[in-house]
Amino acid sequence: MTRTPLIAGNWKMFKTGPEAVDTATQLAAACADVRDKEIMIAPTYVCLPLVATAIANTSLHLGAQNLHFEKQGAFTGEISADMLAAAGVEYVIIGHSERRQYFFETDDMVNRKIQAAVAGRLKPILCIGETQAQREAGNTFLTLDKQVADGVKGVDSKLLQDLVIAYEPVWAIGTGETAGPDQVETVHSYLRTMLDTQISSDLAQTVRILYGGSVKPDNIANLMRIQDVDGVLVGGASLDAGTFTELVKYD
Ligand code: 13P
Repeated sequence: MTRTPLIAGNWKMFKTGPEAVDTATQLAAACADVRDKEIMIAPTYVCLPLVATAIANTSLHLGAQNLHFEKQGAFTGEISADMLAAAGVEYVIIGHSERRQYFFETDDMVNRKIQAAVAGRLKPILCIGETQAQREAGNTFLTLDKQVADGVKGVDSKLLQDLVIAYEPVWAIGTGETAGPDQVETVHSYLRTMLDTQISSDLAQTVRILYGGSVKPDNIANLMRIQDVDGVLVGGASLDAGTFTELVKYD
């Protein structure tokens, strides 16, 4: 089974509309010749329609950083799956550790968001990862098991054929500290086996498992070489079109 590598940029709360359009346009031009990888950018909500227009007819894919699980209603400040899809969004990042940490998202909310995403035909990127304290307590796998199992609970595995899982150890996000190749390999192969035995063996073959956490041009090649790493989810190094292009064109 060949899985197309996904190089994804999470722009977090950076860039105004014009800035996002400018970076996206430069990135699309620089990566126009890339055929063997999928490239995704996730700007802020307000930038989505602008960036969708800027990257139409290019090889770039568009993602959102979050969504609300209800279809519509009196939920001030929230955005639904249908609204994202109508804005040209294809992927949606769900359960990022910053959402869990600063906005108190629980596994139950993450699950409802996954359900809303698949119902709205968006491709969910389920973010999981242990904190430093969980790792030190020897609870890395317990934490990841629960985040995956609760995240996809009750969702028919046939609806999850576009699921992407992003393993982002919380202690490696924005810290300059990357998990070592052995740690990444152990976790990714554990996740693939867990999907195989506990969810669906078909799904285990199709799901792309991304690594995230201080991915930079100088470490991406070593990460992408790891057997069960199917791509990366990048924060800081995805903000500059030139650096992002180096990530896409690593060798
Ligand atoms: P950094 O690449 O800045 O560490 O962020 C990773 C991340 O959170 C991507 O979602």
